[in-house]
Amino acid sequence: MIKISPSILSADFTRLGEEIRAVEAAGADYIHVDVMDGHFVPNLTIGPVVVEGIRKAASKPLDVHLMISPVEIYIPAFAQAGAHLISVHCEATHHLDRTLNLIREQGCRAGVALNPATPISQVQDVLHLVDMVVLMSVNPGFGGQSFIPYVLQKVRAMRTLIQERGLTVDLEVDGGVKVNNIAEMAASGANVFVAGSAVFTQPDYQTVIGQLRGNAEAAWRAAP
Ligand code: DX5
Ligand code: ZN
Repeated sequence: MIKISPSILSADFTRLGEEIRAVEAAGADYIHVDVMDGHFVPNLTIGPVVVEGIRKAASKPLDVHLMISPVEIYIPAFAQAGAHLISVHCEATHHLDRTLNLIREQGCRAGVALNPATPISQVQDVLHLVDMVVLMSVNPGFGGQSFIPYVLQKVRAMRTLIQERGLTVDLEVDGGVKVNNIAEMAASGANVFVAGSAVFTQPDYQTVIGQLRGNAEAAWRAAP
């Protein structure tokens, strides 16, 4: 139920293959890949060519987070590069329904991401088209930022909505996830956790991923 998705944004890019194999050996469930375009977010990262390389190094599914606009035209390229799950921002497309359908037509699981200030009502009518909702708990663009506390109430409301609909949609939190705050997110109903700086700044990936998972699982079990 609980999945840990280390974000390679905070990895050592000179040794990217090695870093991916290390977090997988340390217990990562997914590899989170942050794609930024310098337009939708104020930073530039990587494109489909690098995702193809990451795919070759990884054995776990790639959780590809597209922070790009326009986004729809690039989805086939990321699917062909080996993404398993593709998340698009609802703020980055005028045609979210079409974009989500396209992701599934390309053989990938579909995710929809919401910036901190975007209300969850923006995606309530397309929940049947998504496999995962990503609630951003920082303003996207950079690793190493602090968790925005009001996102917790969005996590609770989104989990309630998913349950009311009888859907099996994963709920991912992305940004500022740490060993000492993951429990409150899990208790609020999140079950997938992106962790970039929390993992890659530590000398021992296995210890930190184990602590993240342990704290999340305990809180998930204790939740009403
Ligand atoms: C932010 C990215 C996140 C980020 C997480 O724009 O989408 O995935 O890398 O990094 P930390 O865990 O350091 O906040
Ligand atoms: Zn991300």
